[in-house]
Amino acid sequence: MIPGAAGDDPANLELSVDDMRRLGEDALARVLAHVASIGAQPVRGEIAAAELCAAMREAAPEHGAPIETVLDPLFRDWIPRSFTTPAPGYMAYIPGGGLYPAAVADFISAATNRFTGLWQAAPALVQLEANVLDWFRQWMSFPPETRGLLTTGGSMAAFNAVLCARERHLGRDVRPGVLYLSTQAHHSLEKAAKLAGVFRDRVRHVAVDAQYRMRVDALLDAVREDRAAGLAPFMVVSSAGTTNTGAVDPLDAIADACAAEGLWHHVDGAYGAFFHLCPELRPILAGLPRADSLTLDPHKGLFLPYGTGALLVRDGAALRAVHGMSAGYLPATPDLDEFYDPGQYGPDLSRGFPGLRVWLCLKVFGAARFRAALAEKRNLAEQACRRIAALPGIVMTAPPHLSLFAFHVTRPGATRAEENLATAALLERVTRRGRVMLTGCTVDGGRFLGRVCVLSFRTRQAHVDACVEDVAQELPFVWEA
Ligand SMILES: Cc1ncc(COP(=O)(O)O)c(C=O)c1O
Repeated sequence: MIPGAAGDDPANLELSVDDMRRLGEDALARVLAHVASIGAQPVRGEIAAAELCAAMREAAPEHGAPIETVLDPLFRDWIPRSFTTPAPGYMAYIPGGGLYPAAVADFISAATNRFTGLWQAAPALVQLEANVLDWFRQWMSFPPETRGLLTTGGSMAAFNAVLCARERHLGRDVRPGVLYLSTQAHHSLEKAAKLAGVFRDRVRHVAVDAQYRMRVDALLDAVREDRAAGLAPFMVVSSAGTTNTGAVDPLDAIADACAAEGLWHHVDGAYGAFFHLCPELRPILAGLPRADSLTLDPHKGLFLPYGTGALLVRDGAALRAVHGMSAGYLPATPDLDEFYDPGQYGPDLSRGFPGLRVWLCLKVFGAARFRAALAEKRNLAEQACRRIAALPGIVMTAPPHLSLFAFHVTRPGATRAEENLATAALLERVTRRGRVMLTGCTVDGGRFLGRVCVLSFRTRQAHVDACVEDVAQELPFVWEA
């Protein structure tokens, strides 16, 4: 009996099989209708919702309510008031995915609710997660001693990477440690550094070249300057695809520099590393397999729903040195070299089962399909870049290294401020049409760029056509304001 119904036992939280089925079928029907209509939903929902949010505040319910009354407003009023991140026309920021088998996996893991924080509590389930991490390792051409960790996202992967580097290179003497990243690095890296005890005054933003890639000469100058000042350079973070313009840093040259200077090299591959699955794209990411640690974000490049990031650490012992623990009340993992134990390689003890959503998607689709999808996204981005670059008044500032490019609008005699306004107007006008959502970024101390990022598994040729069409049609009007 559903809680709240007449005759209900107030202390009973267990549902009958019939009630569970009814709840499940109700939710499934709504989810299927929703997912089937994603392509037709406005790509940016009505997000002016301050009044609505204020009106939504309520006291905790004392008594239960029928599921219909609870789910109706969720699907009708609240979900639509958001960016439609899984939409095929969502080419803003870094697009979201949401492969359906992952939702099924989450349902299974929550309903079966097994404890995957310890190998001994669910050895076969933990093995599935170990398999996933090993598949990632092989795709990234990392060595067998690599160990990894599934995280909630790229930010937490980076945090764990800084912890490894800090522990390995600085030990307890953290304060002199200096970390280097480019001016284009994602802000989560600076946050990760701070969480790991490396504060702003010990983070250096290295200059980039005309393609927004870290300049290795500037990196080495900064390292030498800090050494001369008595500080302790310990870590370089490079990007396998920046969020602003999609730039891939010279990973090989940075790996050389780190080897020469004795520094930990972390590659932030949150956006771009999964393109390494495609053999033909590996030259773009040359040097990635030499990293000491690597952020992967399956909720970006593997099209999973939000909540799945990953970290690979080349010398798995470094990750274990950060997280390894024992407690008198817990069983010890019998053979840690043979069996992966999440509690020894990550910060969580009790945790969900993030491995199942990745594992199920990879088993259901197979790696070949992911490779084909990633290769297609890159081809679509290259094609969109060529077509948009050919439009009058477009300056293609950053053609795609992978599947993201950036541009701005110009006309004779326009100042940079006017160009910035016109570029922002173009993105807004395109987005208002409802089919394609675009956002921009500011670089070079004040230049605003429009961006197109093709990474949703739903984005196909027709949606790129729509993007080019909408940009072309709005372009004549962007100077009006
Ligand atoms: C290049 C890059 N690094 C790191 C992150 C942070 O990852 P997450 O949002 O999964 O924490 C992002 C997020 O967009 C990103 O684009």
